[in-house]
Amino acid sequence: MMWHRPQGFSLGGTERPRLRVWDLSAGYGPVQVLRGLSFEVKPGLTVILGPNGAGKTTLLRALNGLIPRSGDVMLDDLELSEKTHEIVRAGVSLVPEGRQLFAQMTVLENLELGGWLFSRAEREQRIEQAFVDFPRLRERVQQLAGTMSGGEQQMVALARAMVSRPRLLMLDEPSLGLAPRMVDELLGMVRRIADTGTTVLMVEQNVKKALAVADRGFVMERGALVASGDARLLSRCTVVREAYLGARDSDTTDARDAVQRRAKTIERLHTKP
Ligand SMILES: Nc1ncnc2c1ncn2[C@@H]1O[C@H](COP(=O)(O)OP(=O)(O)O)[C@@H](O)[C@H]1O
Ligand SMILES: [Mg+2]
Repeated sequence: MMWHRPQGFSLGGTERPRLRVWDLSAGYGPVQVLRGLSFEVKPGLTVILGPNGAGKTTLLRALNGLIPRSGDVMLDDLELSEKTHEIVRAGVSLVPEGRQLFAQMTVLENLELGGWLFSRAEREQRIEQAFVDFPRLRERVQQLAGTMSGGEQQMVALARAMVSRPRLLMLDEPSLGLAPRMVDELLGMVRRIADTGTTVLMVEQNVKKALAVADRGFVMERGALVASGDARLLSRCTVVREAYLGARDSDTTDARDAVQRRAKTIERLHTKP
């Protein structure tokens, strides 16, 4: 199977937007998970790393209006509300953990859902563009999403998100459960989406590969950002190597213990956004 495309993606834009977040807090009922995060997501590809339970998914859900939050969020000059439909209209799209396609619907029907904001004519044009950007999906247009492989489903989820013409694309562990070669292809596509003007914020547990394609990284721990910086520098820094890349240099590391051991050292690396 080949998903590669040599050129950039037409579905992106050329705006290179920037997200700014001030003092964002969010949680579930009485449980506060995120505690006053302030950061900036620059144009390009930013990866969020961190152990299970750090609050990475909670952060993406709060930014997408799926859970209540406090604090201010700006996409370029536009202040984002807390309402998901307004956030989507402003150009923010989330590919959630586990993809959440409609398994009993076809590829085409799933893509149509990505274009619900647009007029029928524009939706059709955007879906046609999705088939140019993701040519493999054209042959599968009538296939039920639930019958596709994990990698194919992730492509549908990505294409569906791109049909909504996001200025900011957020991805929650897109490589989860995929074969290594599929992970490479997927991350390559995400890279090209970022290169063609859509700002990307991606949570990934595949630390080594994620840092290899990303421009910048954030390290999250217990609801706070503990480190941030250039992806190449993060991947070379001893603390991140030991905590996230593992002694055996494996691609995926749960790293909870190592992170706790190293938490104090990591704090020294924290750079103000
Ligand atoms: N729906 C929920 N209700 C209550 N607590 C939740 C819910 N989802 C996540 N949490 C808690 O919030 C914290 C952060 O979880 P999450 O954002 O999923 O972390 P990550 O994505 O980094 O693994 C965890 O302590 C988790 O138990
Ligand atoms: Mg998560």
